[in-house]
Amino acid sequence: MQDIRIERTTQPRQKPDMATVRFGRSFSDHMFLMNYDSKNGWHDARIVPYGPIPMEMASMVFHYAQEIFEGLKAYRTAAGKIQLFRPEENIRRMAQSADRMGMPAVDEDMFLEALKTLIRVDESWVPEMKETSLYIRPFMIATDVALGVHASDSYLFCIITCPVGSYYPEGINPVKILIESEDVRAVRGGTGYAKCGGNYGASIRAGVKATRQGFSQVLWLDGVERKYIEEVGAMNIMFKIEGKIHTPALNGSVLPGVTRKSSIELLRAWGYEVVERQISVEEILEAARDGKLEEVWGTGTAAVITPVGSMTYKDETLVIGGGKIGEVTRRLYDGLTGIQWGTVEDLFHWTVPVSK
Ligand code: COI
Repeated sequence: MQDIRIERTTQPRQKPDMATVRFGRSFSDHMFLMNYDSKNGWHDARIVPYGPIPMEMASMVFHYAQEIFEGLKAYRTAAGKIQLFRPEENIRRMAQSADRMGMPAVDEDMFLEALKTLIRVDESWVPEMKETSLYIRPFMIATDVALGVHASDSYLFCIITCPVGSYYPEGINPVKILIESEDVRAVRGGTGYAKCGGNYGASIRAGVKATRQGFSQVLWLDGVERKYIEEVGAMNIMFKIEGKIHTPALNGSVLPGVTRKSSIELLRAWGYEVVERQISVEEILEAARDGKLEEVWGTGTAAVITPVGSMTYKDETLVIGGGKIGEVTRRLYDGLTGIQWGTVEDLFHWTVPVSK
């Protein structure tokens, strides 16, 4: 494994007030960078002060969106130790995204070492306040200076970090979701399962429309029949119907969320039946009308476990659980964040220590 060169900042950045910090707005002192080209492979691994880098305007990423990213978090435990949550899952998923986008994967050990080294350098940026963490954003961009549509020969892999509280301004309070019936996010055979910027770019128009109408996010339906539920803007979705939990299956156009996977594993360990399958919007509407839809929540690294208080489809609004957080949603939030913040025993060995 190559050594990581470290250049420390001489001008530390101002840390945000964690009581009011907005998601992804205040960045830590350092970032990790590593270059790739087909002749040298991955090289020049370095940690340098966070800041702008020079890029030519003809760089391929600006034109053809050959870009992938990940999202994970580092947590400070009550004992003051710092830990990551299932980083190997993000590392593996980034390799799958790279494959889908014709990009080179980063060696798994190197990736983990980069994460740990960067967090140790910026240790003081891992916040202590309850319900906060250090959000970590690894990403890779195509850097060839060329306008022909082909795979880039050179890439830049970066990791930046930022201290965060809740993703939604609502905190752990239920959010209002709009079920999008015009735009679609992804189709099978497309890039839906990959975490690439283009998927999110294509979601912005519907997001703007939803925000204007007072919703937090949109829920996407499948791209072919616009009938089956896929995922929400920044999270996967789960429904509790008559005691059983249902979530859309990973069909190629749904993001394989790490929090989704962890929630399923936790719920099953607690004895709940969890079914991964095709779920039509009509079926959910009917369950809600019949009083059988007990809880709905989203799962995501940024969103953690977010209760959904209402869902609007065309002219109909379903209020779920009286707009309050449900029992399983709460238990899942407490169980998962308990492991992440080290207050609940990590029976699954999901956490990875960062502090030496
Ligand atoms: C995450 O949960 O880490 C995500 O990447 C969602 C996001 C686009 C903020």
